[in-house]
Amino acid sequence: MTDLLDQLFETHSLTKDEIIDALRMMEDPQHKSRLFDYANRTRLAHYGPRVFMRGLVEFSNYCRRDCMYCGIRAGNRNADRYRLAPEDILACCREGYELGYRTFVLQSGEDMWYTVDRLTDILGMIKGEFPDAAVTLSIGERSRSEYEALYKAGAERFLLRHETASRELYESLHPNMSFDNRMECLRMLKEIGYQVGAGFMVGLPGQTLEHLAEDLDFLHRFQPDMIGIGPFIPHSDTPLKGSKGGTVDNTLVMVAFARLLVPKANLPATTAMGSLDPQGREKAIKAGANVVMPNLSPTSVREKYALYENKICTGDEAAHCRGCIEMRIKVSGFEVDMGRGDSLNWQEPV
Ligand code: 5AD
Ligand code: FES
Repeated sequence: MTDLLDQLFETHSLTKDEIIDALRMMEDPQHKSRLFDYANRTRLAHYGPRVFMRGLVEFSNYCRRDCMYCGIRAGNRNADRYRLAPEDILACCREGYELGYRTFVLQSGEDMWYTVDRLTDILGMIKGEFPDAAVTLSIGERSRSEYEALYKAGAERFLLRHETASRELYESLHPNMSFDNRMECLRMLKEIGYQVGAGFMVGLPGQTLEHLAEDLDFLHRFQPDMIGIGPFIPHSDTPLKGSKGGTVDNTLVMVAFARLLVPKANLPATTAMGSLDPQGREKAIKAGANVVMPNLSPTSVREKYALYENKICTGDEAAHCRGCIEMRIKVSGFEVDMGRGDSLNWQEPV
């Protein structure tokens, strides 16, 4: 007798209604452990036991947006703002390169100080010095022409979580932002040729199992190259302070479903998972994740990049995180891969 989970494992496809039914099955611990096993086997089939390492540079916490959940929202007067100069960003990459990293993820709030010209200069410096490294941008919404210019300047990957695939929930969490524009940005990035990362938070206030099924169904239809999924962790300087937040257990289920619905995606074990549970990242790796993103930001600014509170590693040097993560991966029975680790879902444009 086969059931929905077997069908998911064999075909990597379910309808939205089937996803809802399969999510309901997760109340039974036996089904849940079978889900994790199927997700792990799917990941092993495509990526083997390797875990790709990405060096994360959080280069500015200025943001023009006001997302209700985020600690660096424009309206948070208590946020201590910083911007790294282009040379400082390059210095982080240099340190990362020496530690073996071959992917740099440049992340910031939506900070318009970094014009396309400035970003192009930064990309030129990084790609000039480290031509064998991949650069991923995570800088939010821009226009099509800006995305095109940044791609030409050498950025080959772009992370833009969809945050939630429910229009209603999206609009309640993102004042003055448009759900349609978010989706349009994701489509444009894909068309331009980027490896594109989508993803969502688990445990948002008002989020139901049906909403989560919508997220998984969206991922299945969009087939992103990368998928970032993390628990929502309330921040006390935001309108959502005091709300419950997501759990590691529920997030792990989403990670495993994402692996099964988008088998070849690069799927990180997120820092938010490690922040809620000391073993959170290891658990995510065992549930189908194949990427980790240790921090390369200068320790002087680490604490200031607080999207949520109690984030791990804010006091740790890049070299420490590099070693720590490697040890954690090995102890979990997996292997570190310092290569570029392009997504198998993605075909280089001709
Ligand atoms: N808790 C967890 N994740 C958060 N993010 C932003 N704020 C929070 C929070 N309070 C996530 C968003 C964003 C990513 C960079 O961090 O999904 O896309
Ligand atoms: Fe930073 Fe473990 S990854 S200390």
